[in-house]
Amino acid sequence: MKAETREVTVSVNGRELTRRTEVRTLLSDFLRHELGFTGTHVGCEHGVCGACTVLVDGVPLRSCLTLAVQVDGSAVETVEGLAPEGELSRMQQAMRDEHGLQCGFCTPGILMSLLAAERDGVSCERACTDVLGGHICRCTGYQGIRAAIRLRWAELEHEAAAPHGEETPA
Ligand code: FES
Ligand code: FES
Repeated sequence: MKAETREVTVSVNGRELTRRTEVRTLLSDFLRHELGFTGTHVGCEHGVCGACTVLVDGVPLRSCLTLAVQVDGSAVETVEGLAPEGELSRMQQAMRDEHGLQCGFCTPGILMSLLAAERDGVSCERACTDVLGGHICRCTGYQGIRAAIRLRWAELEHEAAAPHGEETPA
């Protein structure tokens, strides 16, 4: 029996893309295999590890638990969108400065959740606990990641306190 297919249009990092795909295609597979955004990693495929996290209309979602057809018409943000010109985002730089990664497998998902947390004005403590708690890292012991979060949130605090016009880019 032939699998049912449907056309799906998504804006990925600001670029509108359309592909016909099977209705059972997961968003993670759609992004990776059909659109070429391989920065979204797939670990457990069961919604546990958080590696596959992307933003859909600004909300962090496990792309391994989401069907591509469910996000038809939505704006999707992936890790590739954080450094479109190759220059690291401030959070990426903080991860680098504080040794917040080793193999890097978990990193894209963590960065996307932290981006949403930054935008939502989540406190540093909640970013280090609730937000990071949704992600499994098998390498770092989390200390470097927490140090990177504290570094970035200190920057945000500084920006908030600075006179208008001194903000640093996300
Ligand atoms: S691959 Fe999606 S949560 Fe682990
Ligand atoms: S850095 Fe290897 S899983 Fe997190």
